[in-house]
This record gives sequence, structure tokens and C-alpha cells, in this order.
Amino acid sequence: MDLADGLLEQPYDVYRRLRDSAPVHRISGPDGTPAWLVTRYDDVRAALADPRLSLDKRHATVGGYRGFALPPALDANLLNMDPPDHTRVRRLVGNAFTPRRITRLRTPVRHTADRLLDVLGPDGTTDLIAAYAAPLPITVISDLLGVPGPHRRDFRVWTDALVAPDPQRPEAARHAVAALLAFFTALIADKRATPGDDLLSDLIAVRDEGDRLSENELMSLAFLILFAGYENTVQLIGNAVLALLHHPDQLAALRADPGRLPAAVEEFARYEGPALLAIRRFPTEDITLGGVTVPAGETVWLSLSAANRDPVRFPGPDRLDLGRDTSGHLALGHGIHYCLGAPLARAETEIALAALLERFPRLALAPADTHDDAGLRWRPSLRARGLLTLPVSYSSTI
Ligand code: HEM
Repeated sequence: MDLADGLLEQPYDVYRRLRDSAPVHRISGPDGTPAWLVTRYDDVRAALADPRLSLDKRHATVGGYRGFALPPALDANLLNMDPPDHTRVRRLVGNAFTPRRITRLRTPVRHTADRLLDVLGPDGTTDLIAAYAAPLPITVISDLLGVPGPHRRDFRVWTDALVAPDPQRPEAARHAVAALLAFFTALIADKRATPGDDLLSDLIAVRDEGDRLSENELMSLAFLILFAGYENTVQLIGNAVLALLHHPDQLAALRADPGRLPAAVEEFARYEGPALLAIRRFPTEDITLGGVTVPAGETVWLSLSAANRDPVRFPGPDRLDLGRDTSGHLALGHGIHYCLGAPLARAETEIALAALLERFPRLALAPADTHDDAGLRWRPSLRARGLLTLPVSYSSTI
């Protein structure tokens, strides 16, 4: 099947049909490459942790994988690496995102959230993605890495061009890549000349003091952290707010007991996580997935969203249930590529929701004429589940 068939509009319906009918499907992947799609929870989880499934494109059959190629200075990142390179690079950066370190960021993240809400005033209507869900993570990750203020807006435009390329403007993705390269080259040169108290300066010091990180790996790592640190978090915040607005009973329960927020964030991630698919993988030998033999070098897509809605693992999976047991959900991956920024992603989403709900006792989807559900616009992406716009009305009085 063509993976695009109905999947953009109704991903969960299509995934339900696929999951019910067979464990593994032969498909045409998001980039047009013939591939295999895995949808059942147990199979996806096992595959995520299987060392025979490589992320390194050199294991792809020659002429098979035709995915969008970044230049080496952006491509030498963790999501294209296997051990031992992956182990080495991940160890260098792992310390920056431990739960303890992230606890120290909670107060600044809350300040940023409050500042953004101040701008909205006591009541009105707004696009919550543009006004809140997007600027919060981009500010947080830029501060952490040391990206100066004026460039943050540009970065958003470039990453948008890469995540959901506009078929009408194929040159936009190429321009974005060129701009990103120039941006990171200049930023690293600046930080080298004048180090700051930020993660990028720390990584440059690691690079320059020995041979633990190549120059391409340094730039690719900075790119991945900025990109991954912003992209998915925007979507999770937006998806979570929408889910709450669609479920007023659960919104009321959460307002009544904000202590349930950390658990709720896990359910938002399971129910409508931003990563529909894990990064493509390539078997290093012929392997059996869900009883199907997949030849070495072919492309394998693991659907995190289909797995997270597998009724065998999560009963009544299409129901948002903030009280359910979400343990083992795969929204942040599993195995050695498990999301590096998971503690930050969780903290940011929790704080974003707490600040928003405290500030606005009244929050609703903006009036139906233009912004009913049919007017909500999802990103045209088979990989990233997120809203382009989320029009809401809000008020700080009840
Ligand atoms: C809600 C937010 C987020 C979601 C849903 C998410 C999801 C994921 C997933 C599913 C993977 C594994 C991909 C795979 O195995 O194919 C991953 C890996 C990764 N994530 Fe996240 N992520 C989020 C936020 C962040 C943040 C805030 C950062 C950084 C600050 C980050 C950095 C990374 C990195 C560097 C990897 C690659 C790890 C490796 O290969 O070892 N992510 N993320």
C-alpha cells in the first residue's frame, strides 16, 4: 500500500486497520521508498531494542533507501548512528539532560511560560501554537544551547521546511539546509571565539580538547538537539491542549487536581504523541519481524502511534484516560535511542499546561464558524503528528 492513503487525514483509523489485518505490511514509505511497516505493540517494542536493526544508512541496500539526505555536517547525528559511535557521542551529551539537571530548569521554563501568557492579556482569542506552544520550547532549548535571540525565529522557519516540505516549493528544503549549515557554522565559530555558559560551548570544549567528537559530529549534534528539542515538544503541548479541550470532563478533573499533571503528560504522549513513526531502520541481516522475514538492507518503519493504540497493550486505546496505566508507552522511543531529552520534554509539557490552566480558568476552541474541528489544521506529515494552528478563546475570569 501507499502509506499516504488516508493516513494524513485519519492516522489512527488507518493504523487500526493495518494492525488488525497483519503484523507487518509492505508499503511505500513517507519518502517513496519501498519499506516494511510494523504496527503491533510487542513487535514495535522488540524491534526498537533489536541491535540487528541499524540506523546507519550504510546498511541500506544500495539503490533502496531514497530518504532525504542532509549534508555530512548535519547528518552525523545520533539518529543515524549505531554503537560504538552512538555510545561515544551519546555519553558526551547525556549528562546535560539528566532529570536532576532538568529540575534546575523548571523555574526558568515557568518564567518563560508566564511571560508568553502575559503577552496574551486577560482575555481574547489567539492561535495557541504560534503564541505559546512554539515559542516556549524554542526559547528553552535555545537558552540551553546558547543560540542568540535574533536567530530563533529563522530556525523555526527552516525546521518547518524540513519536517513538512511543501510539494509546491521543493527548493524550500534545500534553502533551509543551506541556511542551517551557515547558521551553525557561524554559531560554532562565535562560541569558539567567545565561549559562554551553555551546552554548545561545553560541546566545543569537548571537541577541541581531544578526538572524542569530530567537527561534523559536533555540528550535527547541535543541530539534532535544537531540532529535536523544539520540534516534538511544540506538537506535544499543542496535541495535549487539544485533547483536553475535546474532553471537558478530564480537563475539569485536571484543574481540580493539578497533581495529576505528570501522569496526564504520559497519557497525552501515548494518545497523541508527536512521533507517528520512529526513525527508519535497516536490518543488518535477514530478520523475522512479527513472523515475516525482512531481507537485510531493506527499510523498516516502526509505528509508535499504532503501537501506543494497540488494544492488546492499552485497553480502550482510542479513549483519552488521564488515569490509565501508561507504563511502557513508546512515544519517546525505547532502547538505546530512547529520547535523550525525555526529562526536558516531560517537564516542559507539564509546566506549559500548568501555567496555561492556572492563568485561564476559561479556555475553549475558538468559535465554530472558522475554527471548528474541520478548521483545525494538522501538519501534512506522515511522521510528525501536530497542529499547524490551534485557535482558542481564553479568559482569566470564570
Ligand atoms: C515531546 C517531546 C519529544 C518527543 C515525543 C520525542 C521523541 C523521541 C523519539 C521517539 C526518539 C527515538 C527515535 C527512534 O528511536 O527512532 C527520540 C530521540 C531523541 N530525542 Fe526526543 N523527543 C522529544 C523531545 C526531545 C527534546 C526536548 C530533546 C532535546 C533536548 C530531544 C532529543 C532527542 C535526541 C538527541 C534523540 C536521539 C537519541 C539517540 O539516538 O540516542 N527530544 N525522541
